[in-house]
Amino acid sequence: MPKCLSDFVSPEAVGRVLNPSAFGCRLPGVAFRSREFLELEYARWLNRTWLFVGRAADLPRVGDARSVPGLPYFLVRSGPQRIRAFHNACRHRGHRLVAETREAMPHIVCPYHQWTYGLDGRLLRMTNAGGAGCHRLDGLEPAEHSLVPVRCEVWHDWIFINPGGDAAPLTEFVAPIARRLDFVDFGRLRHFFTMERRRIDANWKLCMENTMEPYHVPVVHRSSAAGQPLELHYMIEEDPIFGCGIDLPGSEYTNEAPDTDVNLDNLDMSARYLLRAPNFFLTSYAPDVIVDTMFVPDARDPATSWLEQAWYTTSGRTLSEEEVEAWSVLEEQVIREDIDIMTEVQAGAESSAVDDGGVLTPAWEACIGGFYRHVVGALQD
Ligand code: FES
Ligand SMILES: [Fe+2]
Repeated sequence: MPKCLSDFVSPEAVGRVLNPSAFGCRLPGVAFRSREFLELEYARWLNRTWLFVGRAADLPRVGDARSVPGLPYFLVRSGPQRIRAFHNACRHRGHRLVAETREAMPHIVCPYHQWTYGLDGRLLRMTNAGGAGCHRLDGLEPAEHSLVPVRCEVWHDWIFINPGGDAAPLTEFVAPIARRLDFVDFGRLRHFFTMERRRIDANWKLCMENTMEPYHVPVVHRSSAAGQPLELHYMIEEDPIFGCGIDLPGSEYTNEAPDTDVNLDNLDMSARYLLRAPNFFLTSYAPDVIVDTMFVPDARDPATSWLEQAWYTTSGRTLSEEEVEAWSVLEEQVIREDIDIMTEVQAGAESSAVDDGGVLTPAWEACIGGFYRHVVGALQD
């Protein structure tokens, strides 16, 4: 019998999330430390919606492939305009096909016994399967042993999968965040940097909490975000969009290349930090930069998430090496500060003291309250 939300969370705890009193409340600690709760999230929600799992810019050549971190799938560019996703398992005896990245491969060759697949997933050759030099097996129809596809679509540069296969079209899924960022010219998106993939020892929802709220900024990012004072932030809670914004005088999003150098000593610019639930997070930095933040919940471990981030301009400009370096140094500092926090919050989530869901301040964490109402709604469906 598949589990449901009420097997983990009492009606009272659900009520505290859905109908907050003076202050908001999160789900109890089981939501961050239980493998069965994670399985519920995937079965009821994450497999049935669109998950953000990669970028076309990271697969520039036909035959480039990347595994999806934390999930048994991989992405491959099968043609100049086509990205596909497959289960990351050979149809012979299941060896993983792409450990992390493979570059410009003409075929997908299994490292174990060299069964060979086309970039479209078709089984082309069962190496020596019928005896030395015979690459067929009598009675086995290759077409029935192709790689198992996963529904996959791309919005601008961002790759999404829908493992269950029956989500509404991706354009409907991304429409709310496209509307919230209607001042951004996505048509001129130019990728300039992708950070190395990192394993984070924290539940994915704790990663989302920390990424969307400004309350910690003056404490945790004292110098790296010195230009973004707490009092200028505001909440954004428009289900399914959750996050915050900050508008600094004289710093506006224009999609135009700036005339003078942008100060990258710290995050000293207007910004929007926006999650489209469950895991598509975009940050706009005035005047012309967009950063994506991808946290993929590890399917086997509730206390592990996989992080990648990438940077783009929307003015079409190409950054100098010095500017790319300045961005990567600054964001490296910011993300390290955040990773320490996320890890420590996961450590605390092992305690029964968080089983009341804690406290969310209306001024600075209303977005987190909205996110958990969305989570509850998705898991109750
Ligand atoms: S498991 Fe892939 S060829 Fe044997
Ligand atoms: Fe942060």
